[in-house]
Amino acid sequence: MQTLDSPSVPVAAHRAPFDGRLFRRVLGLFPTGVTIVTTWDADGQPVGATVSSFNSVSLDPPLVLFSLARNMACCEAFAAGGPLAIHVLGEAQEDLSNRFARGGADKWADLAYGAGEHGAPLLDGTLATFECRPYAQYPGGDHTIFVAEVKQLRFRDGSPLVFSAGGYRRLAEQEVCT
Ligand SMILES: Cc1cc2nc3c(=O)[nH]c(=O)nc-3n(C[C@H](O)[C@H](O)[C@H](O)COP(=O)(O)O)c2cc1C
Repeated sequence: MQTLDSPSVPVAAHRAPFDGRLFRRVLGLFPTGVTIVTTWDADGQPVGATVSSFNSVSLDPPLVLFSLARNMACCEAFAAGGPLAIHVLGEAQEDLSNRFARGGADKWADLAYGAGEHGAPLLDGTLATFECRPYAQYPGGDHTIFVAEVKQLRFRDGSPLVFSAGGYRRLAEQEVCT
């Protein structure tokens, strides 16, 4: 049996503390989709950020999670606990991802959006949208972990945008059969 002590290929091992660059590089070996999370700030303006830390949590009740850097400008707005939405981006939405990843910029300029049935700001044209109510939040080091309860789903046909090894990818057409 192969164990971690006798790997068949050489593996570089690094114990903590390791530098952030290396940590991010190894995390990048786990591909994710790309989402934009949105809510309103205290002045009633829409805020949002590109997020790849999205994941499913529970089926009953339907829960999902994502984490936001505590120093991110819009983190406070999410912590305030208003309605929020999570938009899954399609493969052609790299530009939208970059727009919502830029700190300080007016992310919403000339963008079509409206309020959803559950009150969160909704972006037009994304692959899927989870309209949510906040459920719980937890400290997670320099991030806050937000758990949200999904109240409504919207989706359309299409392929997702993928983020891996620090860059955007598309899924290959060929399926892997088992
Ligand atoms: C593909 C991608 C995924 C990201 N995922 C996260 C994430 O999961 N959590 C996070 O805090 N920041 C993430 N970021 C960085 C934020 O999008 C960025 O810091 C944020 O939009 C800055 O917004 P602000 O103006 O509110 O400070 C990601 C950026 C990219 C390009």
